[in-house]
Amino acid sequence: MPRIEVVRAGESDIPFIVATERRPGFEKLVGRWEAAQHAEAMTEPRYAYFLARAVADGSEPKPLGFALLRDWDSPERSTLLKRIAVSEPGQGVGPALLRGLIERVFTETKAHRLSLGLFPHNLRARRAYESVGFQAEGVSRGSAFVGGEHHDELVMAILRPDWLARKG
Ligand SMILES: CC(C)(COP(=O)(O)OP(=O)(O)OC[C@H]1O[C@@H](n2cnc3c(N)ncnc32)[C@H](O)[C@@H]1OP(=O)(O)O)[C@@H](O)C(=O)NCCC(=O)NCCS
Repeated sequence: MPRIEVVRAGESDIPFIVATERRPGFEKLVGRWEAAQHAEAMTEPRYAYFLARAVADGSEPKPLGFALLRDWDSPERSTLLKRIAVSEPGQGVGPALLRGLIERVFTETKAHRLSLGLFPHNLRARRAYESVGFQAEGVSRGSAFVGGEHHDELVMAILRPDWLARKG
C-alpha cells in the first residue's frame, strides 16, 4: 500500500467526494449529498471534511477516500462520523483514514466520544471500524430514514480513554 496521509478537504475536493459517494454498490451503504450541500456544509464549523491521499515522490497526492465529521469540537464533546467512503474498498485504505481521523479528533479537539451508525448488514465497514478500536454499542431502531424507509443502525463508538489505552 502507498503511504497515506489524512488531510482536511476543501471545496476543490467536492467533485471527488460526490463521485465517491456514488460508486456502484454504495447506494445501500452510505448517504449522498449534492455538491451544493457539501459546499454549504463546508462553510459550517460543525462539519469537518477529511481526505485520505496516497503520497508518492514526485507526483500529486491522489485522493483515495473521504470522511465527513459532524459536531467537530462541539461543547458536548461528542463527535459523529457521519459519512466515510473510499474509492476502492477492501484494500485497507478505510482503516488508514479512520486511524488518521481518530488521531485528529482526540488531539485537535476536546472530544470524549467519536461515534457512528452503520447498517448492520455492512460487515466490511464493521470489520474496518473494529480494527481501529470502535466498539459496537447496540442497535438504534429506525434511526436512519433512507429511500423513504426507516432503517435500524448499529451504533459504534470509540472513547478518548479507549484511544489512550490503544496508544499504550
Ligand atoms: C467501509 C470502508 C470505508 C472500509 O474501508 P476499506 O478500505 O474497504 O477497509 P478494509 O480494506 O480494511 O476492509 C475491512 C475489512 O473487511 C473485510 N472485507 C472486505 N470485503 C468484505 C466483504 N465484502 N464482506 C465482509 N468483509 C469484507 C476485509 O478483509 C477487512 O477485514 P480484515 O481487517 O480482517 O482484513 C469501505 O469499505 C467503503 O468505503 N465502503 C463503502 C461505503 C461504506 O460502506 N461506508 C461506511 C458506511 S457506515
